[in-house]
Order: sequence, then C-alpha cells, then structure tokens
Amino acid sequence: MSDKKLLNYADYLKLDKILNSQDLKSAERGTPAHDEMLFIIIHQVYELWFKQVIHELDSVLDVFGQDSVDESNVSLAVSRLERIIEIQKVLIDQIRVLETMTAMDFLEFRDDLFPSSGFQSAQFRVLENKLGLQSNERINYGHQDYKNPLLDSGRQDVMKAEKEKSLFDLLENWLERTPFLSFEGFNFWEQYSAAIRTMLQNEEETIKNNPTHTKEEIEYHLKDHERAVASFESMIDPDKHNILIEKKKKRLSHKATKAALLIFLYRDEPILHSPFNLLSRLMDVDELFTTWRQRHALMVRRMIGAKIGTGGSSGHAYLQKTADRHKIFSELADLSTFFIPRSALPELPENIKKNLGYYFKK
Ligand code: HEM
Repeated sequence: MSDKKLLNYADYLKLDKILNSQDLKSAERGTPAHDEMLFIIIHQVYELWFKQVIHELDSVLDVFGQDSVDESNVSLAVSRLERIIEIQKVLIDQIRVLETMTAMDFLEFRDDLFPSSGFQSAQFRVLENKLGLQSNERINYGHQDYKNPLLDSGRQDVMKAEKEKSLFDLLENWLERTPFLSFEGFNFWEQYSAAIRTMLQNEEETIKNNPTHTKEEIEYHLKDHERAVASFESMIDPDKHNILIEKKKKRLSHKATKAALLIFLYRDEPILHSPFNLLSRLMDVDELFTTWRQRHALMVRRMIGAKIGTGGSSGHAYLQKTADRHKIFSELADLSTFFIPRSALPELPENIKKNLGYYFKK
C-alpha cells in the first residue's frame, strides 16, 4: 500500500483553522452575546470574497498591463469582471442576513469592538486602490491618512496597490492606444458635432416652448441645458477638456474619452463588441460598489442611528459621502449625454466599416 496520505475534505479546506476562528469578545467577559457569532462570520465571509475579487481583478490588471492586448484577452478580462459582478451581488445581498440582527442585539457586544472597525479592512482598501480610487480624492475622516488605522502587514499591501497602475490607469492607456480613433480622411468629429449641435438646439427649443412651464422654470431648465452644451464643447475641444481635468471636474484623458465614446456609438460594429462589453462591465462593477456602499450606509444608520463609528468617523454621514463620491468609472456613464439615435449617427464609409468588421479571406 502507498504511504501517500489520501486528501481529506477538512484538511484541504483547512476547516480546523477556519471553524475555530470565531472568538466572541462578549464571551471573554462572561456574557456571550448570541449575535456576535453572526457578526464575526459575516465579516470573515466578506474578507474571503474580497480575496477572490482581488484575485480576479489582478488577472484583469495583468491583461491590460501588457503592451498589446489582443481580442481574446479582452474577452477573458470581461469574463473575469462578470465573475466579480456576481460576487458583488452576493456581497450586497448578504447585508440582509446581517439585518436580521437588531440594533438592540448589536448593543449587547458593540462596546467590545472599540476601536476596531471596517476602516481596518486592508483588502477593502487594496480593492479600492486597484480599481483606481485616488488617495487625494478620498473623503477624509479625523484629518488622518486612510492608511493609519491599518496593521503594518496590511498597510504594506495597500501602499503597494497605491503605487501600482490601477485599472483606471490601464484602461485609459488602452483606450488611448485603440486604433478606432483614426478615420483615414473621414472627418467623423465634424459630422458628429453637427449632429449633436442639432440635437442640443432641438432640446433648447423644446425647453423654451414647453407650455406647462412657467418663465422661471424655463430659465432654470435652460441653465441646465447650457451646462450640457458647455460639457459637449469640452468633449470636442482638447484644451477645454484639459482645463476640466486641471479643475478635477474630469479625470479620463481627452483621447481616451473620445475612444470610449466611439466604442459606445459604434458598438454594433463586430470589432467593438468586446470593447463595448468591457466598458459596460466596468460601469457595472463601479455601480455595484456604490450600491454596496449605499446598502452598508443604510444598514449602519438603522444599527447605530447618528452615533459615531467604532473607528471614529461620523458613521452614517461619512459612509453616505463615500457612496456619493468614491466612484471610478462614472465618466463612462456620463458619456450617454452625447449619445444620439443610430439614425442620426454619421454613416461610416465602407473602407472604415470593413476595417471595423471581421472578414475572412478564402
Ligand atoms: C452591525 C454591522 C456594521 C456596522 C454598525 C458598521 C458600521 C460601520 C461604520 C460606522 C463605519 C465607518 C467607520 C467607523 O467610524 O467605524 C464602517 C466602515 C466600514 N465597514 Fe462597516 N459596519 C457593519 C458591518 C460591516 C460589514 C459586514 C462589513 C463587511 C466587510 C463592513 C465593512 C466596512 C468597511 C469596508 C468600511 C470602510 C468603508 C469606507 O471607509 O469607505 N461593515 N462600518
């Protein structure tokens, strides 16, 4: 008989370690709180999923970190993002399980938790950094660096992710390199701008002639409209766009923004299917992150009301601000402002269409 030890389920999964890693703080002081077990397990489950999401995200970063990214690798990245999206849905859903614990039940052990908090989740910070959240754009709490509450080991990982190129950076580089921007003799932007200006003029007329609105309401809507016009002009003019970047009103470079817009507008062309899916999935990841932040903030309000957090922030108010501000790919969603119906899109000349399509030689 071979000496080789047969693999065992419990050994393989290191269940001995995992299942013996729930030490209730309330039990240590002799009054075990029933719900503390749920509180610990749910956080551990989150951290395991964070680990999986980082694993998937690293493979996406690898794809876009290459000098040239071929079509099949874009599809691979999309499938990895799809897995992240499914995990994110579970992460959001899981909050419902935690909400079976009432605010009063939580109070049975909340004081035992001070000063630990979600602020000390290094994996969450790594994730934010790898996606592209910039340190100087973070909502500040207590005038301290967001890395201060972390343990040394976690801080190293977070700092490493801070220095490396994020998914935002790599996507921007990739978009800037796309060949879709050159239209060989066909002045796409001139024709497209004319179509957009017609659309904006029609909108202005609709606002001015709305019989149900008062003069004040019309003026109010016209101001909004002016902003849309200014935003469009900055799309067309790189200098205006760069001023917005300097003012931190935009982040994605002008070239990358134009490439993204073209991908959205001509998504029906075969070669743009994968790039379109990629941009759509990135918007999904970003939105689901925001949804998690909002759900977590709502749950926190119900759990602790207006109390401060165990980590020292203003609690719900701080978390709500992060949900509003900590976004990475929202500029992709904003591009919808410049969408026009397919029928109004400049028709691409045949030679360009051919370059954007798959064709097979015999
Ligand atoms: C009773 C349940 C919970 C309460 C009352 C709660 C409360 C809070 C509060 C008040 C904060 C702000 C930091 C502070 O001042 O402490 C926070 C941050 C955080 N919490 Fe929770 N939390 C709960 C459950 C969870 C769970 C299950 C997770 C899953 C990992 C989690 C992850 C985080 C993260 C990552 C942050 C940092 C968010 C950021 O800075 O953007 N929390 N939590």
